[in-house]
Amino acid sequence: MLTTQRLMTAAKPNVHPSGIRVRTYRTSEQASLAIATEIASLIRKRRAAGRHCILGLATGSTPLRVYSELVRMHRQESLSFINVVSFNLDEYFPISRESRQSYFRFMQENLFDHIDILPENVNVPDGTVSAAKVQAHCHAYEKRIAEAGGIDLQILGIGRSGHIGFNEPGSDRGSRTRLVQLNAMTRSDAANDFSGIANVPTQAITMGVDTILSARRVRLLAFGERKARIVQRALQTSVSKQLPASFLQNHGDVEFIVDASCAGE
Ligand code: PGA
Repeated sequence: MLTTQRLMTAAKPNVHPSGIRVRTYRTSEQASLAIATEIASLIRKRRAAGRHCILGLATGSTPLRVYSELVRMHRQESLSFINVVSFNLDEYFPISRESRQSYFRFMQENLFDHIDILPENVNVPDGTVSAAKVQAHCHAYEKRIAEAGGIDLQILGIGRSGHIGFNEPGSDRGSRTRLVQLNAMTRSDAANDFSGIANVPTQAITMGVDTILSARRVRLLAFGERKARIVQRALQTSVSKQLPASFLQNHGDVEFIVDASCAGE
């Protein structure tokens, strides 16, 4: 059990026997500010070196405070995103970009509309392509990531199904960006957003497990009691495609950033 002092400062990560570093903050607010600071510092370091910073971004309620802090840093601390290229993890399929639940729209409203990232440097899987073209779109998405030089830092949430991106249980270690079926728990968790489970799409486009594991740094954020059990399982079960987040145990630079209520278990 972490002491209160450790929870407050989270000065050092706790290295779990799985090899995953776990940083526990007292609140999700503190955790979000810490991760925003890490992102800002990487962007500035790359800029000073005359290089792009390639960010892998996530949607959902978990990273919202990270994005609002990045917006604040842009406004008040002249953090520029001019050298940032972003790749989002996933998108519902099919979905229009104007739709309230579209991840494209989520990213515009919560981050991109408020910072100076160049529109041509923003990449979100396209939920509007035709079924016939979706596979080619997924290949092209992978190609763009490779051409950008690979992802420097990938932000992840975790679903109660154990998914990362929309890689649901059963996803292969070697999977790449593709069209997937959404798991029943994931659809039920999204039911509120869609005013009823019947309206939740059954499919999505997601970066694959291998796409995520190819990122140079991976930071998984999990807040609140409802994520405690799945986070514990991701750390403790042996690596298995039944729990896609467990694949992170084999990544060399991964941290789980959790708050005290998530760390409770
Ligand atoms: P949440 O979703 O941040 O809304 O909890 C996380 C996820 O499903 O990856």
